[in-house]
Amino acid sequence: MENGEKKKIILSCIQPTGTPTLGNYLGALRNWKALEEDFYSYFAVADLHAITVRQEPKNLREQILRTYALLMAIGLDPEKSTLFIQSHVPAHSQLAWLLSCNTQFGELSRMTQFKDKSKTHPDNINAGLFTYPVLMAADILLYQADCVPVGDDQRQHLEIARDIAVRFNGAYGNVFKIPEAYIGKNGARVMSLANPEKKMSKSDANKNAFISILDEPNVIMKKFKRAVTDSEAKVRYAEGKDGINNLMGIYSCITGKSYEEIEDEFDGKGYGDFKVAVGESVIAELEPVQKRFNELMNDRAYLKDCYELGAQKANHFSARTLNKAMKKMGFLLN
Ligand code: TYM
Repeated sequence: MENGEKKKIILSCIQPTGTPTLGNYLGALRNWKALEEDFYSYFAVADLHAITVRQEPKNLREQILRTYALLMAIGLDPEKSTLFIQSHVPAHSQLAWLLSCNTQFGELSRMTQFKDKSKTHPDNINAGLFTYPVLMAADILLYQADCVPVGDDQRQHLEIARDIAVRFNGAYGNVFKIPEAYIGKNGARVMSLANPEKKMSKSDANKNAFISILDEPNVIMKKFKRAVTDSEAKVRYAEGKDGINNLMGIYSCITGKSYEEIEDEFDGKGYGDFKVAVGESVIAELEPVQKRFNELMNDRAYLKDCYELGAQKANHFSARTLNKAMKKMGFLLN
């Protein structure tokens, strides 16, 4: 950030649907931490998004708190950033309704995530699953975010948020800033360890396919040792070597080494050595996060103070945008 330049705004959210994975961490959370210093930052647990898939209430409640604690455990600072829980800020649902009346059925039908999730949950293709990107647009536009740090899988949702904002501004006058996606060069798409053509996902039925941020060191190592690779037995980044490419991406992200440096480091060594090195780097990276997470979960009163402060700050800021949008649309404000 240049001297005297006004700080820009970033916002991003994560769903509390299970423990975040190494994909969430490298694709998003780690960037949030890196950007926090230079931006006005809003980070939320997107609990309203989570109910587009059926959740067990007791489990959801615990998962919301755990996800919030994890955001703090990776080092996000509730004083510096606004760290909040989406459902604590009613403006999200309110703006989502205004925006859904400015979003076309056709454009929502094109969302690949909706098509994918409809296939995995054929018994529960609810309206919320369909309008999910509108709620996400509301999350972003409410805070006048300049930039949204996400993994590659959210690219299409960011595009529709921009389209909705442009359309709304065109129809009613300037209300929303048009946000840009921030997608890191490395780690934007961490792949499954069991099927490296597929994205690593916390909802994968195969537990060996993903590393959870809270996996114990021996579990992490075991999963890396089992990771699917190829028969060439040469550590090099190349087309058709999806498994090795994925492990190289992870290792590069964590150690900061380039692919050439990694190739040199493992020249003449087999996949076994390489997998152990990747496992060790991930274990060392996650160890302080896990330690801090356990401390925080033992201090629920402190967590409550933090999310209450977050709600207060988020409510304050978002109300301004919501009021402006309502006024422009012709509502009689009281
Ligand atoms: P969610 O909860 O699925 O994931 C949170 C973040 O992690 C990124 N991510 C990945 N990055 C790299 N490799 C992977 N395998 C991987 N899997 C997940 C996601 O891109 C995301 O950045 N719709 C969002 C949550 C959301 C949101 C928002 C995000 C709700 N409102 C407003 C940004 C702005 C989601 O389901 O993320």
